[in-house]
Amino acid sequence: MKIVFYSAQSYDKSFFESANRHFDFSLSFLEAALRLETVSLAKGADAVCVFVNDRLDEACLNALKEVGVKWIALRCAGFNNVDLDAAKAMELPVVRVPAYSPEAVAEHTLALILTLNRHTHRAYNRVRESNFQLQGLLGFNLHQKTVGIIGTGQIGLATAKILKGFGCQLLGFDPYPNDAFIAMGGSYVDLETLYQASDIISLHCPLTPENHHLINGSALASMKRGVMLVNTSRGGLIDTRAAIMALKSGQLGYLALDVYEQESEFFFRDLSDEIMTDDDLSRLMTFPNVLITGHQGFFTHEALTEIATVTLQNLQALALEGHCINQLK
Ligand code: NAI
Repeated sequence: MKIVFYSAQSYDKSFFESANRHFDFSLSFLEAALRLETVSLAKGADAVCVFVNDRLDEACLNALKEVGVKWIALRCAGFNNVDLDAAKAMELPVVRVPAYSPEAVAEHTLALILTLNRHTHRAYNRVRESNFQLQGLLGFNLHQKTVGIIGTGQIGLATAKILKGFGCQLLGFDPYPNDAFIAMGGSYVDLETLYQASDIISLHCPLTPENHHLINGSALASMKRGVMLVNTSRGGLIDTRAAIMALKSGQLGYLALDVYEQESEFFFRDLSDEIMTDDDLSRLMTFPNVLITGHQGFFTHEALTEIATVTLQNLQALALEGHCINQLK
C-alpha cells in the first residue's frame, strides 16, 4: 500500500517510520497541506494520511477519488475538516484515531490552567531578569473551585479526573451524559447553569455546525465575572472577537487556547521572520492573562506512538477486510 502524508512534520516521519516496521507500507511525506491545488501530489497513492488543518471539502474529495485514492486516514481524533457526507456519497472510507491518549490533552489542559492561574509564564521571564517581585503574580487555589466541563467524553473525563484530585467541584454539560463522570462526583447541569456557576470552563466537545461559536458574546456575558476559559478542542467553538471584547471589559478573567479559529494559516509553522497578518491573534497575544499554545495538546511520545500504530492498523483493516472499527459514518 502506498500512503501519502500531507502536512507532515519531521516527528510524523519518525513515529510513522518506526510503526511501519510492523506493516511495511510505502510511505511518502509531504510538507504541503491537502487542498484542491495539492491533490495531484497524491497521484498513484492508495491512501492519504491527513491532519487537523488539511481541508477535505467536496471538491478536494472528488479530486482525490479521480487520482485513484481509495482511503483517507486522519491521524487525529477530530474530523470537522472533512465533508463526511460527500465522502460517503463517493464511497471514500474515512478512518480516524478516536482515543490515542486522552491523558495527553487532559494534562496539557491542566498545564494551561496552572500556568495562567499562577502566572508561571510571567514569573519565568521575570526571574531570568533578576526581578523577584511578586506583584501581578497573585493566583487562586484550585481547591474547592467549580469547574465546568463541556463535553465529558474521553478527554473531558480524563481532565475531570485530574481536577477531582485538586479538590474541584465538577459540573458537566454533554448531550450524552457519561456514567463515569457521575461516578466520580460530577453533576450534569444545563449550559446556562454551568456558565453561571463555574470559576473555570474547559471545552472538550467536537466542533460541529451546531456548536460553531458556542462561546459567543451572550454566553460570555452569562458567565461569572473573571471566569477562566480554556479551549483545547477546536478554535471554532469560540467567537474570538467576542472573547477579545470580554477580555477588554474584564468579564473574561483568563483565556487559555491550544486551538484558534484561523489556526490553519499559522499553526505548526515557524513564522517568526514574518509579519503577523491576523489582527485578532495579534490582539490576543497582547493580553497578560491570555496564554496560547500552538495545538500541542496531543504532542506526547505516548500519543504519537499510538496515533502512528492505530492509523496504519486502520488502513490495513480497510485493505484486508473492507471496513474498520474506526471508520466514520
Ligand atoms: P469524545 O468523542 O470522546 O468526546 C466528546 C464528547 O463531547 C462526547 O461525550 C459528546 O457527546 C460531547 N459533545 C458533542 N457535542 C457536544 C456539545 N455541543 N456540547 C457538549 N458536549 C458535546 O472526544 P474526545 O476524544 O474527548 O475529544 C474531544 C475533542 O478534543 C475532539 O473533538 C477534538 O476536537 C479535540 N482534540 C484536541 C486535541 C489537541 O491536541 N488539542 C487532540 C485531540 C482531540
